[in-house]
Amino acid sequence: MHVPIPAIPVLFRRRAAGSRRALIAAAALLPALAVPLAAPAAPAAANGVVVGGAPTTTDSEPWVVALASRQRFGSGRSGQFCGGVAVGPRTVVTAAHCFGQEALGVADWRNLPDLRVISGRTDLSGTAGEEVPLSDVWVNPDFDATTNAGDVAVITLSQALPDGAVIPMAGPADTAPYTAGTEAQVYGWGDTTGQGAYPDSLRTATVDVLADTVCEKAYPGDADGRYLRASMVCAGVTGGGKDACQGDSGGPLVADGKLIGLVSWGTGCAEAAYPGVYTRVSAVSGLVAQHM
Ligand code: ARG
Repeated sequence: MHVPIPAIPVLFRRRAAGSRRALIAAAALLPALAVPLAAPAAPAAANGVVVGGAPTTTDSEPWVVALASRQRFGSGRSGQFCGGVAVGPRTVVTAAHCFGQEALGVADWRNLPDLRVISGRTDLSGTAGEEVPLSDVWVNPDFDATTNAGDVAVITLSQALPDGAVIPMAGPADTAPYTAGTEAQVYGWGDTTGQGAYPDSLRTATVDVLADTVCEKAYPGDADGRYLRASMVCAGVTGGGKDACQGDSGGPLVADGKLIGLVSWGTGCAEAAYPGVYTRVSAVSGLVAQHM
């Protein structure tokens, strides 16, 4: 079996033999280990962010940011390992699991001194935009690593983002964008194939918000997680082929001009039977506001 080796040893999935766990993208950096331990059960469509996507830019989507540490993830792609979303001039939301020990390799983000939020850099091989140091991080203490519920963290930046562009979060009253059939865009610099092909440039894919019952059936509870409708959103496309993937975590799912989800988890990427699961922003926006 041929397993493609990513150019930069980042964000491979760590899979125990037989495990389909796909939550944590980032892992150890030893080049010798920097290949997926197993190919995906069903290879995803190979053209996509995000799988099945198209290029976009941080000029048109300035609130899409990257979390990065060259020290841990290598310098080729500016050290990117997760996505994030600017919701206030100095506030970025992302996934709690992006700050876990398994991702960062350290128990406390402060022990990764070159951790930065990168804004305004469509192409991570370049130097456009700004790299902003973090001044504080609130990781949801109720994040449940078994189900993946509550996968949200709030970053306070040491200085305001250059253009101050932010996107509003969906709140408890925003039920319409969560209706099954709503089209939503997901953004990220993650794996475009499900096999460790990390693009330099930002991509987006359009997916449909799916009925909670779809993800409840797909994810009744196994090693990857358990779908909980109160705190998660289910999104994908019939037949698969378009989805977020490893490295997209913490990035935005947007509908009707609002942030409705954060890339959180899924089994494989873009597989027809396994939609993407996102943190339900309307369920945590109050909590986020308390930490801005
Ligand atoms: N957990 C992954 C990350 O850390 C994101 C996985 C999303 N998977 C999916 N099939 N939508 O980047």
